[in-house]
Formats: sequence, C-alpha cells, structure tokens
Amino acid sequence: MKNPSSRGLFITLEGIDGAGKSSQFSALVETLRGLGREVVATREPGGTPLGERLREMVLNEAMSTSTEALLVFAARQEHVLHVIEPALLRGQDVVCDRFTDATLAYQGAGKGIPRDRLEALAHWVHPGLEPDLTVLLDLPAETAARRMREQGRQGDRFEREPEEFFGRVRRQYLELAREQPRRWRVVDATRSLEQVREDVIQNLKKFLEL
Ligand SMILES: Nc1ncnc2c1ncn2[C@@H]1O[C@H](COP(=O)(O)OP(=O)(O)O)[C@@H](O)[C@H]1O
Ligand SMILES: [Mg+2]
Repeated sequence: MKNPSSRGLFITLEGIDGAGKSSQFSALVETLRGLGREVVATREPGGTPLGERLREMVLNEAMSTSTEALLVFAARQEHVLHVIEPALLRGQDVVCDRFTDATLAYQGAGKGIPRDRLEALAHWVHPGLEPDLTVLLDLPAETAARRMREQGRQGDRFEREPEEFFGRVRRQYLELAREQPRRWRVVDATRSLEQVREDVIQNLKKFLEL
C-alpha cells in the first residue's frame, strides 16, 4: 500500500458567486508554492479539455436540472481521473476552485435535487476521494450580488439566479461546514480583499501545522 504521507493535499475553495473565490485562489496556491510544494491549480466544472467544453454548456445552455447535475459529474469524472488523482498520487497538491460540495449546494439546495442522489453520483465518480481542506468564503447573498453588479458582470445561468437561490446555496455550504468541522474552514468574506487573503493564508498555515 502506498504511504499516505507521500500523497499530495487536496484543497478546495467554495462559496457563492461573487464571494471572492477567483480573487483568493492565488493566496492558497502561492502560499503552498512558497513552502516549496508542487501545486496543480484547477477549477470545476472544467479542468480538462472535455470538462471545459461541458462547463461552457452547463453555464450557458438551458437544460433540465438533472441534465445539469449529470454533466457536472461527467466533467468531474474526467477531472478526477486525468488531473486530480494522478497529481495527488505524484505527491503534488491540488487546489481546486469548487468541487462536489458546490454540487450539493447549487444543484442540491439551490435547485432541489435530493442530496442522496447527488451523493450516490459522488460515490460513483470519486469513491474515497474527499478534500483534505475546504475553505468556505462566506458572505450574505446580497453582498455578493452587489459586488457582481458593481463589476458589471454579465452573468452566466447561475449568476442570473435570484438572491433567494444564493441564500439557499449559502445555508447549505454552512450546514456542510458544520457537519465536517475538521475539513472545513469558514472565512468571513465580507471584509476587504487583503483581510480575507490574510485569513485564508492563516487558516492554510494552521492546517499545515506551521
Ligand atoms: N473582499 C472583497 N471586497 C470587495 N470586493 C471583492 C472582494 N472579493 C472579491 N471582490 C470583487 O467581487 C467580484 C467577485 O469576485 P470573484 O473573486 O470573481 O468571486 P467568485 O470567483 O467567488 O465568483 C470581483 O469584482 C472582485 O473584484
Ligand atoms: Mg470565480
């Protein structure tokens, strides 16, 4: 059996649209690299050529909610098989902008697919694979919506959902964090970019026991 300590760390970043994931992603990646670790930086849906094509469809084309969930997991299957697992086995860390928790929050709580159905797909697509650390950038849906308006972001299918949708997604994320406090770190994302960045880095360092 492989020595588990030679495996890389799987770290995910979660939060509703406009929470600051894209803005804070580099804090995780650069901190790890600064410590001399090799990092694969990736995102979902996407992360492979086929996965990125599926991402385009999921974000932009009208489809039923179950089709959406199945396409997200199809993209995830490619990502896990061709990017995430091989990197972890090589001993590289993987930092991923969103993973299965986002599906539980968006397609589950947001759009109403029963959680056990999504968990069955997760078990099929990545049995035994779960992030070692998940950072949740938490903020009210209203604040996130204001940020995106200020940025003048056109908005994909998800970003155009009403504020109540993001309220449900946020509550599900917080519930997941409560269920697994050892894996999750909840960061108050209402603060300035600099303050949030500092908190993300501190949480990562504490996790690494530095
Ligand atoms: N802490 C912050 N304070 C103010 N604006 C922020 C903060 N974090 C992100 N933003 C802005 O909010 C918008 C959404 O951020 P982004 O990182 O794209 O979020 P996400 O990737 O989670 O959707 C961007 O215009 C970004 O510059
Ligand atoms: Mg983003």
